[in-house]
Amino acid sequence: MLTVSLVPRPLAFQRNARYSTPEKANSWAEVTGYNNFYEFGTGKEDPAQHAGRLRTRPWTVVVDDECAAPGRFALEDILKPHPLEERIYRLRCVEAWSMVIPWIGFALADLIRRFEPTSRAKYVEFTTLHDPKQMPGQRHDVLDWPYVEGLRLDEALHPLAILAIGLYGKELPNQNGAPLRLVVPWKYGFKSIKSIVRIRFTEAMPRTSWALSAPREYGFFANVNPEVDHPRWSQKTERRIGSSNFLARQPTLPFNGYGDEVAGLYRGMNLARHF
Ligand code: MTE
Repeated sequence: MLTVSLVPRPLAFQRNARYSTPEKANSWAEVTGYNNFYEFGTGKEDPAQHAGRLRTRPWTVVVDDECAAPGRFALEDILKPHPLEERIYRLRCVEAWSMVIPWIGFALADLIRRFEPTSRAKYVEFTTLHDPKQMPGQRHDVLDWPYVEGLRLDEALHPLAILAIGLYGKELPNQNGAPLRLVVPWKYGFKSIKSIVRIRFTEAMPRTSWALSAPREYGFFANVNPEVDHPRWSQKTERRIGSSNFLARQPTLPFNGYGDEVAGLYRGMNLARHF
């Protein structure tokens, strides 16, 4: 019988202080026990319970369309040239809760440049594995599978956007998106797509899963914005997971507190319309 190690392996990395919040990180138990990963169910504890069956090795990532160096790559080849960094980021979920997570990863921009996007490439689209045998949540029509997310190319090239392969110094547990997931800290958590199998450069804006399923509720940009409420709830405050007072809420910051870095990407745009 094939046995798979369920103990995440440690990684070698350097701390990136410039891009880390001094806030206290959530515990390992919180970060790996309270998740959104609808491929394994819609409950917060479903991913930790069911994602163990996902096989993350071997893993292939296809990079294609508007780039000069497309191909099909083994995960190891995707990762090889990139030194790993630890970055402690806030994650603000669209459901008005937040966490602080010590990710291990590398700049998405460094990976994108290797594949030489053409002058027609305006967006980057990411796709999660589609395999209902391993991902039981995909047997239900909660979303139009596979999960698709996207960024404008200039957003994807911003140094805060990373691809993560670990957290808390170890390889990503499956429930957090092993073996490769996006982390875009100034956007609502749903943009940070998990278990990526395809990265595609496109001229047209990608048709992303949440925007397709509920266009009035979830836009393409999904920048954290306390001034634009979700149609069914306010985005002005958030609950920090693990806080001793369950009712305590803190103000949500524009761009999740990363405005000094990223607001310039949206100069001149009406962010209430392009939410
Ligand atoms: N990626 C996929 N493929 N499927 C999902 O359901 N959920 C998103 C995002 N990435 C999701 C996904 C949402 S809503 C959030 S808040 C974050 O993952 C949660 O990441 P975490 O569980 O690692 O904290």
